[in-house]
Parts: sequence; structure tokens; C-alpha cells
Amino acid sequence: MHTHLPTPEAIQQRRAVRRFSSQKVRDQLVYELLELSNRAPSGFNIQPWHFVLVRDQEIRGLIHHVALGQKQIIEAPITVVFAANQRAWKEEFPRIIKSSLTEGLMSKEYARYSAANVRAQFRTGPFGFYGFAKRITHPLRRLSKPLADPFYTADEVRSYSRAQTMIAASTFMIAASGAGLATSPIEGFDERRLKKLLAIPSHFSVPVIVSLGYPLETEESLDSYRIPLLDKLSVDVFPNKLSRLKAQNESKNEPDKQLP
Ligand SMILES: Cc1cc2nc3c(=O)[nH]c(=O)nc-3n(C[C@H](O)[C@H](O)[C@H](O)COP(=O)(O)O)c2cc1C
Repeated sequence: MHTHLPTPEAIQQRRAVRRFSSQKVRDQLVYELLELSNRAPSGFNIQPWHFVLVRDQEIRGLIHHVALGQKQIIEAPITVVFAANQRAWKEEFPRIIKSSLTEGLMSKEYARYSAANVRAQFRTGPFGFYGFAKRITHPLRRLSKPLADPFYTADEVRSYSRAQTMIAASTFMIAASGAGLATSPIEGFDERRLKKLLAIPSHFSVPVIVSLGYPLETEESLDSYRIPLLDKLSVDVFPNKLSRLKAQNESKNEPDKQLP
């Protein structure tokens, strides 16, 4: 692996780069980054992502058009389309369980437990019937003990698969940054047109596409603003005790900020 940067620097130095040089990225390196992305965690290890690796210049030109003319897609030699499979729990999960068992990566008890849970959690059809039944039974079942919220509609499963796929996309961007490459996450595109263009099946959605390449050297990469951590952090419970703690911290003016 060609990771040059330790993780904190890879995270710190990542920017949404919008100008790319035409320098190619070696296939081997792209595959290594995708392998790392594929190591992302996901609920029940369902791994609902699918990567469409687009190198073809003509296809990138067409994506550029459905992505509102964002020119990173043309400039960067690679675009990765992160597709989310909302049927992964059904189509992929059985083989995930099977392989985990044969490779000795999961106990039989856990396999049984997760198979039963995944089905109960994700199943909504036919015709939304199961989801409807859960709406009635779930509030009753949870009276006696805490229960995780199941999915009631196909739309909820879709959102979930998108959220999990974003973890793979984040992993990809950090891995790329660590390898000295630049990425540009893009959500500004016409998803229907993009899916049609790339022949992505209807049970997949596309939460994000990411352009990948080497940054244009001449372009100055500006830092990007972040709301200070202490405005974003609550400790133990949500209500913001932090304004008080922040005031304390500022008055101490210590370079080495300690968490309260
Ligand atoms: C999911 C997602 C979608 C984004 N979509 C776009 C986009 O369509 N076009 C764009 O120019 N930047 C896009 N961005 C980049 C953000 O504007 C950028 O990440 C943010 O301003 C913070 O800057 P930084 O990433 O350089 O730290 C997107 C970022 C994320 C995470």
C-alpha cells in the first residue's frame, strides 16, 4: 500500500478539490483505495455499497452534464460512483453469513441471531404489508424492553443503505488523501439521469460520486471553515453545558485543550 500519511494528517489535509491536473492515477493504486473503501464498517456488516469506477473520458463527459456541469468530473481522470443497494440485506446478506461461517469469522450463534434480526428489521413488503404489521406490533413489543427501531417502509431502507454507503465514500476520500491524491465529493447531480446513463438498476440509489486525481499544483488550496468543536460537543447529555465549559476553557487559554 502507498499510504504515505498517518491518518490524522490524511484527514487534516483532505479538501474538496475542484481543480485537477491531467496526471493519470495508476490502476493498482485505484484498486487499493477501493479495497480500503470496501473495508468500511456497516450495520450487520451488510455492505450495501457498489462502486462504479469510471475512467472513460466520454462517459465522464456525460456524467459532467448530468452533474450540473461541475468540471472536476472532466478534469479528474477518475470518477467513482457510490451506489447503494437497498436490497443488499436480502441479496448479499446470505452470502456474507455463509462466507463468514466457512471462513470461521462468525460463530453459528451470531449467524443465527443476525440472520433473524436482519430479516425482521429490514423486511417491509410485500406491498408494504410487513412494514404495516410492524407499525402495529412494534410499539407493543417495545413496552416491555428496549427495541431498536425497525424499518417500516422501503424508503427508510433506501435512506439506510445510502447512509451506510457514505461511510465507504468517506473511507475512500481519507484513504485517497493519505496516498497524496485529491478527491471531490459531489451530490449535485440529477440522480435519475445518472442512473440511466450508467445502467444502474432501480433498487440502487446514488448518494454521492467522488472525483479522484492529482490536484492542480497552481491552485491554492484554501482551508475550509469548521464550527469550533466545543460548539458541537455535548458531554453526557445533550443540553449544552458546553457554553459554560467553553468559557472556562477560553479563560484558561491553554494550548493543550482538554476535554471536560
Ligand atoms: C456528500 C457531499 C456532497 C458534496 N457535493 C458537492 C458538489 O456537488 N459540488 C461541490 O463543489 N462540492 C461538493 N461537496 C464539497 C463540500 O462543499 C465541501 O466538502 C465542504 O465545503 C467542506 O470543504 P472541505 O471538504 O474542503 O473541507 C460535497 C461534500 C459532501 C460531503
